[in-house]
Amino acid sequence: MSDGYYKTKESVDQYIKLAEGHHGGALIERLKGMLQANSSLLEIGSGPGTDWEILNETFETTGSDFSSEFLSRLIVKHPKAQFLELDATTLSTDQKFDGIYSNKVMHHLNDMELKVSVKRQHEILNPQGIICHSFWTGEDSEIFKGLFVNYHSESSLHSFFDNYFEILLLEYYAEFENEDSVFMIGRKK
Ligand SMILES: C[S@@+](CC[C@H](N)C(=O)[O-])C[C@H]1O[C@@H](n2cnc3c(N)ncnc32)[C@H](O)[C@@H]1O
Repeated sequence: MSDGYYKTKESVDQYIKLAEGHHGGALIERLKGMLQANSSLLEIGSGPGTDWEILNETFETTGSDFSSEFLSRLIVKHPKAQFLELDATTLSTDQKFDGIYSNKVMHHLNDMELKVSVKRQHEILNPQGIICHSFWTGEDSEIFKGLFVNYHSESSLHSFFDNYFEILLLEYYAEFENEDSVFMIGRKK
């Protein structure tokens, strides 16, 4: 439901500038406590690739995005790495991973898409596989600056993930303001 924003050269250049200095280092530290070093990891929605670079220091990280604009830049910057063109909903790959990570990506999926994605994540993870995702906190959804945003809370995340994952950690944190964000780490059931 991202309406093409991330798919034009201009908007991708703009996003890369806006996101400068932001990264999921603190989330990745928590992930490192739950997923063994050198495990295979899929990042969904790598965007500028800042988190991919941090993740790849510890894990065998495959980056991905549904935007060829982001992907082409990532491939030029990291020619030896693996990047896949994947939609977060369908995750159309035959590969399996020990972990799946995303930072502020899943909020672009509506409820139906998120349901499908959670099932696919379960399918492409190895046994005991780990997921780690961050979301914007809140209720319902809206179009914010032209982009679809689906807000989540502890209870909505439980309702989407509990059938397929044991939630090991769920914490609110501040991206810009107190508790404006929530992240969760779960293990495949
Ligand atoms: C808010 S940006 C976050 C980028 C990066 N994770 C970060 O922390 O800077 C959202 C990213 O998700 C990607 N994205 C949005 N909807 C997606 C979808 N349905 N499937 C895959 N990627 C998607 C966008 O192209 C963009 O790279």
